[in-house]
Amino acid sequence: MYSTAQYTNFFISYLENQIIDKEPKNLYDPIAYMMSLGGKRLRPTLMLLTTEIFGTDYKMALPAALAIEVFHNSSLIHDDIIDEDPIRRGKATVHKKWNTNIAILTGDAMIILTYQYLLNYEPNLAKDLIKAVNKMGIKVCEGQILDVDFETRQDVTVSEYLKMIKYKTGALIAASMKMGAIIAQTSDENCELIYDFGINIGLAFQLQDDYLDLFGDTPTFGRRLGGDIISNKKTYLYFKALEILTESEKELLTKLYAVRLEDNTDKIKTITTLFLKSGVPEATQDSIKKYTFKASKILDKINIEEDKKTVLRDFAESLIGRRV
Ligand code: IPE
Ligand code: IPE
Ligand code: MG
Ligand code: MG
Ligand code: MG
Repeated sequence: MYSTAQYTNFFISYLENQIIDKEPKNLYDPIAYMMSLGGKRLRPTLMLLTTEIFGTDYKMALPAALAIEVFHNSSLIHDDIIDEDPIRRGKATVHKKWNTNIAILTGDAMIILTYQYLLNYEPNLAKDLIKAVNKMGIKVCEGQILDVDFETRQDVTVSEYLKMIKYKTGALIAASMKMGAIIAQTSDENCELIYDFGINIGLAFQLQDDYLDLFGDTPTFGRRLGGDIISNKKTYLYFKALEILTESEKELLTKLYAVRLEDNTDKIKTITTLFLKSGVPEATQDSIKKYTFKASKILDKINIEEDKKTVLRDFAESLIGRRV
């Protein structure tokens, strides 16, 4: 096995050889732009790692890793339209740099490319991989619409929130790992266990994303801060604060989460104070550790060598406290 960083680099080299330089420019330039903006390449890295952990050469997984990274980027382009976000990975989002119509169509084309890359596999394997993508893709859409619905609902519960992030973020991370397991042709049981591992690190990953949305710093995180507050996203930070704040503070918080404002400076400031006062950063970090631990427990049940499990455990732990 190689190191996690090496798998990421293998994927990046593969990606760099796939440049699509075609017409019309207004479709292919934004695709190239988005794919070249970097990002952590988390999902392809996890897929290559999983393929090797189950005893198959990572090279077998490269087309599927590309498929999944293209799908992920399509979801980000559409997500930035939905969330009205101007910056992604430190650069203008596609709908800001071009326009919304271009961003919609670029995202659509990238979903189709996802399937095209999967057709590189022999028919039976391609069918299983496409099935995994279909199951995942519909979950991502369900999670994304719940996320939007929750912006204007005042009675969202923490369990509804957890279901929403399991779908919008967990499903893609988990499917990336499961697809690695499918390519390695391991047992169905291993495929399910690695999927559950992925769900749990996906939950931890989204909690950290919620945390960074407010407590990150733009140069490193590459996104606008406070975006979730601006759109009244009831994230983990919000639920944790509600558990701890006094009645009058709770009232203030829920009132602020029910309005959309032109100028959000004071809203973000007041909410940040309430979050800090109620120990939200620490509570969120604790939950992130809890889900990472849960993921680690699932690995105990997988029948592979201990040193391979260590690679996955170490990688999951390296995601705790990430700033990017
Ligand atoms: C961002 O994903 C969207 C979420 C699911 C939280 P990443 O944080 O993996 O984004 P990049 O690809 O590294 O930019
Ligand atoms: C995005 O969640 C999840 C998907 C793109 C499916 P967020 O809206 O929290 O992601 P960021 O914070 O914009 O990257
Ligand atoms: Mg977003
Ligand atoms: Mg979003
Ligand atoms: Mg976010």
